[in-house]
Amino acid sequence: MSETILVVGGTGMLGEPVARRLQADGYRVRVLTRTPAKARARFGPGFDVVAGDVEDLPSLAAALRGCDGVHVNLAGGPDPDLEHRGTANVAQAAARAGVGRITYLSGASVFEENCWYPGTRAKFQAEAAIRQSGVPYSIFNATWFMESLPKLVRGNRAFVFGRQPHPIHWVAADDYARMVSRAYATPEAANKRFFIYGPEAYTMREALTRYCAIVHPNVTVTSMPLWLAWIIARLGGRAELKVVLPFFRYCEQVREGGDPSEANTLLGAPTTTLEEWSRRYV
Ligand SMILES: NC(=O)c1ccc[n+]([C@@H]2O[C@H](COP(=O)([O-])OP(=O)(O)OC[C@H]3O[C@@H](n4cnc5c(N)ncnc54)[C@H](OP(=O)(O)O)[C@@H]3O)[C@@H](O)[C@H]2O)c1
Repeated sequence: MSETILVVGGTGMLGEPVARRLQADGYRVRVLTRTPAKARARFGPGFDVVAGDVEDLPSLAAALRGCDGVHVNLAGGPDPDLEHRGTANVAQAAARAGVGRITYLSGASVFEENCWYPGTRAKFQAEAAIRQSGVPYSIFNATWFMESLPKLVRGNRAFVFGRQPHPIHWVAADDYARMVSRAYATPEAANKRFFIYGPEAYTMREALTRYCAIVHPNVTVTSMPLWLAWIIARLGGRAELKVVLPFFRYCEQVREGGDPSEANTLLGAPTTTLEEWSRRYV
């Protein structure tokens, strides 16, 4: 009988490709969500959708019953520590349920020295909670996903907030999802942190310009200084900007870290270029 993997946050932008890839690779996939009706409509009958909340321990225990693995894809939005609390709850429940592997999407800049930023601190503490649980783990320290680029387009403008001078190895979610699935079938992938980088490095402005040239040829890429974006956020009541601007300030200062070679050797390197990925949307 095939193994069952619970995907916490399987409805997320980066959780859904993992859920679908695991299912395509022959795993039985259970998706945990706070809104099961919506998820059932999206995933269809090939997936087992269960109601649950990472802050509700009984719901986690029930969802993990009979599971061989659990993948965690969490975003706390305005409450960054949710990712830490929720992942710790999942890891403890997974240990009690005798789950054989936990996989978790962290970030490529998650190091102790960057924990001054709350989102990074939550991920750093989530990783620690996973290690402390004793459940064999594979942690994915992924860089920026190409899937983030469409979110920077608004009307006929695409915005880069701040200077964003650092090159980024943009990765496609499908490549990452394949690597997560491969980790479940690879015993040597246990108890490792994997740095996930795509094949090419571009600054944020370069990547956005390339993406827009193919998918949104009428869109103008605009760099906006952070101070001006803050004024617009305050005067225009743009609540979503107030959440993302601190992240852009963080990205101005912090680079990708780690070495992707072990991930590439064990799990197969990402191959999708930004141009190939963008052409899927034309
Ligand atoms: N974008 C990038 O380039 C990038 C790079 C590296 C790492 N990451 C990280 O990847 C992670 C996931 O990103 P994403 O874009 O997939 O986020 P997303 O689309 O916002 O999805 C977040 C998921 O979290 C689940 N969730 C939130 N609160 C929950 C709760 N209390 N109980 C159960 N589930 C809960 C949601 O499930 P329901 O709403 O269905 O309950 C949803 O599926 C984030 O931590 C992000 O920082 C992103």
